[in-house]
Amino acid sequence: MSLERMRDWVFELPDQIRIGLERAEARGWPESIRAATSANAHAMFVGGMGGSAVSARLSRALLIDSLRGSVEIGSDPHLPGWVDGETSAGLISYSGETWEVLALWEQLASRGALPWVVSCGGELAERSRSTGAPHLLVPPGYAPRAAFGWLLSSVALALAATGGGDAVPSVRSQLGEAAAALAEEREFWRKGSAGAAGRDPEALASALAGRRVLVLVARESDLALAYRWKNQFEENAKQVTQVVAFPEAGHNEIEGWARLGGGEVVFLETPARAGEPARVARGRDAALEAVLDVARQAGLGVHRVPTAPGSRWTGFLSQVFLADFVSIRMAEQRGIDPEPVPVLGSIKDAVRRHLDPGA
Ligand code: F6R
Repeated sequence: MSLERMRDWVFELPDQIRIGLERAEARGWPESIRAATSANAHAMFVGGMGGSAVSARLSRALLIDSLRGSVEIGSDPHLPGWVDGETSAGLISYSGETWEVLALWEQLASRGALPWVVSCGGELAERSRSTGAPHLLVPPGYAPRAAFGWLLSSVALALAATGGGDAVPSVRSQLGEAAAALAEEREFWRKGSAGAAGRDPEALASALAGRRVLVLVARESDLALAYRWKNQFEENAKQVTQVVAFPEAGHNEIEGWARLGGGEVVFLETPARAGEPARVARGRDAALEAVLDVARQAGLGVHRVPTAPGSRWTGFLSQVFLADFVSIRMAEQRGIDPEPVPVLGSIKDAVRRHLDPGA
């Protein structure tokens, strides 16, 4: 049954991260990227969609203070004008067949910016093989969003390797430590135990299933985490979910909260970044508490979700792990099979029929 398969895949996350690091290393990744990209690269473009692109967005969030340059993660099939032959580029598509990503490949190749590639095969892997671009094949047979640990370990190493690669050893040790900590939390959940206060998957699923959910994080640089919750609720539980772009939302969106007619705000705690100026930290906390008060006064439920204890990487990834499990339990509670995504597939089919009518 695919509900059970999805649960198994969710519980694989710590193993996918740990084994993904070992596989990448055994295949000469990320050294091949370091060799193929300029040590002075200060701008990187990474293309991908949905459950594949999120691995790059979350990697960028985790590496925010050690990246050598800015990383743009693009999900539009038209490449931005600034990308040229000097840009470091990468493409991620689990299937290797997503039309937007193949279109980006063509534009990158024509501008002389041959990208590294992460996929489980498909046309993208063929193209990278035939041009000699660095590519890493991740294991096939998963739903893309359930291959997150394979993708994350590969992509975090790739980002860290670009522009000289100083961050690679620390990525290895941070991901290894996080995988071990997540495996401990998995043992609680496997036993059906509630785990730490505020992190009980059953209680969260019951409170959120079928409700309007708004996901909030404290930092713009952590927004990718709120998007993972949104995407997992949408694809697994088939429930539209909103991301609150804090601090920006405090300047506009919250004016309308009282008129929403109810809903649940999930505030995901994330570990602080090192070196945040004290005044910024105090201002952020004050704005956050004020926004949560507005939510309560507007009649919205507020669920504050702490991280699992440990390093910044562990805490951050523990919130991803929780999203994955809560979304499966929500699907189960609503009698929905979390694995198939036929509507999403119908959009891909429509594009295929239009672009390749004879195929
Ligand atoms: C499906 C999923 C989707 C896909 C997206 C792009 O499980 O997560 O969001 O990731 O449709 O497809 P790929 O990842 O094959 O490029």
